[in-house]
Amino acid sequence: MDDASALSPDPIRPGIGTSGTARNWPLNSWWVAAHGSEVSEKPIMRWIMELPIALYRTESQEAVALHNRCPHRWAPLHMGEVAGDRLICPYHGMEFEPSGQCMKVPTQDNTPSAIRIRAFPVEERYGFIWIWMGEASLADPDLIPADLAYLEDPAWYNVWGYKAVNANFMQIKENVLDLTHFSFLHKNSLGVTDWNRPPKVESANGRVTYSQFFENSPLAAIYAAAANKTPGKIVNRETWGTQLSPGAHHSAVNIYDPDPEPNGLSECFARVVHLTTPVSVGKTHYYWVMARDHGGPYDVEQTRAFIGKVFAEDVTMLEATQDMARRAADQDEALEFSVSADRAGVTGRRLVAAMTDAEKMQQE
Ligand code: FES
Ligand SMILES: [Fe+2]
Repeated sequence: MDDASALSPDPIRPGIGTSGTARNWPLNSWWVAAHGSEVSEKPIMRWIMELPIALYRTESQEAVALHNRCPHRWAPLHMGEVAGDRLICPYHGMEFEPSGQCMKVPTQDNTPSAIRIRAFPVEERYGFIWIWMGEASLADPDLIPADLAYLEDPAWYNVWGYKAVNANFMQIKENVLDLTHFSFLHKNSLGVTDWNRPPKVESANGRVTYSQFFENSPLAAIYAAAANKTPGKIVNRETWGTQLSPGAHHSAVNIYDPDPEPNGLSECFARVVHLTTPVSVGKTHYYWVMARDHGGPYDVEQTRAFIGKVFAEDVTMLEATQDMARRAADQDEALEFSVSADRAGVTGRRLVAAMTDAEKMQQE
């Protein structure tokens, strides 16, 4: 027999509940377009904020981001080749330089200067290619959060991964601003069960930070292995997380052991970075990085498999809530009740909304 629970209404809109169906991200901000290792002389395509972007590297390894639509007959340029610094259209061979200017029309001697495509500012930093989708003159590289410098610190180890998510980027950001879901959503995978009270929340300079100190708390197995300590050992744990920008968030787990083993660590630090870039209102590129100052290099495949499994629990839930917003006929009238544990998430949502609204007002 078929499963009656599987039959649902067609998606009626790309909405996300309280955030509605409109763009809820600012364009004037740095967003992660790709991990550096994904971009080479062979162009790739990424949908970012509902625009097709071609990414490639020049001869000198500079990353380039161009609108991935040839202005001649709209061929996706990433299907073409890179020669020197130029991207060559696969259809009739027009050649574009990194500025977006067409330099050659193969069938004629003159190249009208009007033939050009949009080039997007890009910066490569902390292992990632960051893109600026808004007004190019505002693209100040110093706006990429310097807080992530440990990703380039040789004393730290890190591993990255990616998930394609069918949910709005803000849902992921709110998810990582409220870790009280650990005790429920991740109760079997993470084994961190003491997040049962709202954290302290502070907001300043367009950022929001939660923090919580767990005194004399049993060390969860996921933190114990790299620290070379026994799971369940009583330690002090400092945790915090900061929404650094609309596209970047990182969180900390700092362990302080009052009774270290001989030659054991008395303190060790770990970070989790969440880099979220809208594809559209209901879809998000989700890059993550795990980083730590101890325990040696990560086993990349094993870490990706484990984190992939844990984050799949988040993604399954976020996609289910997104789906709820799309399909339920009474969604527009439905209320969202927030509680104390949502303070950081709600603040984060307001900060991004304020940036987005200010930008939209300026454009009107
Ligand atoms: S579509 Fe690109 S050159 Fe014709
Ligand atoms: Fe989670």
